Amino acid sequence: MKEVVLKAVNLHKSYKTFDDLHILKGISLTLKQNESIAIMGSSGAGKTTLLHILGTLESFDSGKINILNSSSKNNEIRNKHIGFIFQAYNLIDDLTLLENVLMPALIARKNILSKSPAYKRALNLLKEVGLTKRKNHLAKELSGGEKQRATIARAFLNDPDIILADEPSGNLDFKNSEIIHKLLIDSVKKYNKSLIIATHDKKLAALCDKIYYLENGKFLK
Ligand SMILES: Nc1ncnc2c1ncn2[C@@H]1O[C@H](COP(=O)(O)OP(=O)(O)O)[C@@H](O)[C@H]1O
Ligand SMILES: [Mg+2]
Repeated sequence: MKEVVLKAVNLHKSYKTFDDLHILKGISLTLKQNESIAIMGSSGAGKTTLLHILGTLESFDSGKINILNSSSKNNEIRNKHIGFIFQAYNLIDDLTLLENVLMPALIARKNILSKSPAYKRALNLLKEVGLTKRKNHLAKELSGGEKQRATIARAFLNDPDIILADEPSGNLDFKNSEIIHKLLIDSVKKYNKSLIIATHDKKLAALCDKIYYLENGKFLK
């Protein structure tokens, strides 16, 4: 039987702004090892909110999340078990691609000097996403497609069990979207990762093992 890597039970989330926005109204989800789940839903449905909550980047009102039965602090769980890919890339413009890709190791207080395991892994991942020649370029010098390929390398750097991807091709043209989808799905399979991806793209969602539709705060049955 495959191991459960992430289990969320009955999550509720409200944003207490000028009116009370009840965004998630009882979301439950189980992600197993090597499994991929697509979350679809219109803009504003709460996909980003849900991914941030699952990745321990955002608080929630009630419910439970269990990530690999870990009782560690959220930042430790994040550093060890979760890799993020964001629609807006979230690269640091004035650092090189290599430095950006090394960032998760730096945050996890690992050695990132040349010849360290993290450094070698970063070079290897940059090679796999086809960016070896670009490794010393500043992030701001790259195209959208190249930036998103770099964020895939960054997400895999700490060898996390779970990859959370938020509309990874949302800012890309058709050709680059296809490249990103293939790279992401292939990398997840190759490295035996589990994936949750928020996407509008039906073709990408169809590549995943399961698709959930988020509407009015709940998954459609
Ligand atoms: N920090 C916040 N404060 C208040 N409202 C927010 C915040 N973040 C998101 N929202 C609102 O929550 C809803 C869901 O947003 P989001 O999770 O970004 O949806 P999606 O990713 O599906 O487009 C939207 O109505 C959005 O305006
Ligand atoms: Mg979003």
